Amino acid sequence: MIKIALTGGDGLVGSKIVEILKSDENFDIHLILEQQMDITNRESVFNTLKGLNFDVFLHLAAYTNVDKAEIEKEKARKINVEGTRNVFDAVRSMNKNFVYISTDFVFDGKMQKTPFFEDSKPNPISYYGLTKYEGEKIVNGNGTIIRIAYPYRTKFDNKPDLVRNIKSLLEQGKFLSMVTDSLIVPTFIDDIAYALKKFLLSKNFKPEIFHLVGTQALSPYECGKIIARTFDLDDSLIKPITYEEYFKGKAKRPRFSDIKSSNNNFCKMGGFEETVFKFKDEFK
Ligand SMILES: NC(=O)c1ccc[n+]([C@@H]2O[C@H](COP(=O)([O-])OP(=O)(O)OC[C@H]3O[C@@H](n4cnc5c(N)ncnc54)[C@H](OP(=O)(O)O)[C@@H]3O)[C@@H](O)[C@H]2O)c1
Repeated sequence: MIKIALTGGDGLVGSKIVEILKSDENFDIHLILEQQMDITNRESVFNTLKGLNFDVFLHLAAYTNVDKAEIEKEKARKINVEGTRNVFDAVRSMNKNFVYISTDFVFDGKMQKTPFFEDSKPNPISYYGLTKYEGEKIVNGNGTIIRIAYPYRTKFDNKPDLVRNIKSLLEQGKFLSMVTDSLIVPTFIDDIAYALKKFLLSKNFKPEIFHLVGTQALSPYECGKIIARTFDLDDSLIKPITYEEYFKGKAKRPRFSDIKSSNNNFCKMGGFEETVFKFKDEFK
């Protein structure tokens, strides 16, 4: 039995991880929600964790609003940097394993033909990306860093994601502008959760970085077309727009975020076309 404690267990990604790990008898899961422990309160973090028995700590809690982070810088830093330091220090003081969930937004995505692997050099271009990278620097060398990208899942009422968003707008017959000249790697959250499960079962908690990401980099416009085709929706509602135009006045995102993995040799991840079919199946 592997005892897992985690923050962010009621979020978009965390709640699916909890669902999948809970359904496996090898895991004992302990969620720590924000109302029980605000990660920015160092004393509360140390006191809460002291009373817990766990083998591995998964740290998913974060300030995740990329655009708002440019305005609420102090809040984003407090949660993503100080919060991560508090949790990491408490976990390390107990000599337990630490796993930090990070993002492809630590990269700049400036070059079209340069994929990002685990050993590529981060160079964040948004404040959110910067705070997540600072979180990585706290963990690096003493814990596992797992980077994910554009996660999506079938159902989650509290927060939209790229795929559910496009599907819903097309179903309502709305026009949408989608970027043609950039690259993203949408990743099915179920794949992330299964890969994480395999990683945890391996009990090989080396202080390494892993990219748990889909295997297909494509433009948001292409994503939109695939979603329309998969769900028999009208793809003529999707209009092309350039990256420059679309993100005018918004936080910068890596333009060519072609994130790949050379370290994930424990779990096969799906390409977008394949996982959107799985997503459709789950809807039924
Ligand atoms: N979503 C994405 O597109 C994406 C992409 C790449 C990487 N990631 C990373 O994946 C992880 C999970 O993201 P997500 O989208 O699932 O997050 P989310 O749905 O926005 O949920 C954020 C979680 O953090 C918790 N939290 C926020 N502030 C906290 C605080 N001060 N103390 C304790 N808990 C706090 C929230 O608790 P409450 O619900 O109680 O507020 C919630 O459980 C994050 O580390 C994120 O950086 C996400």
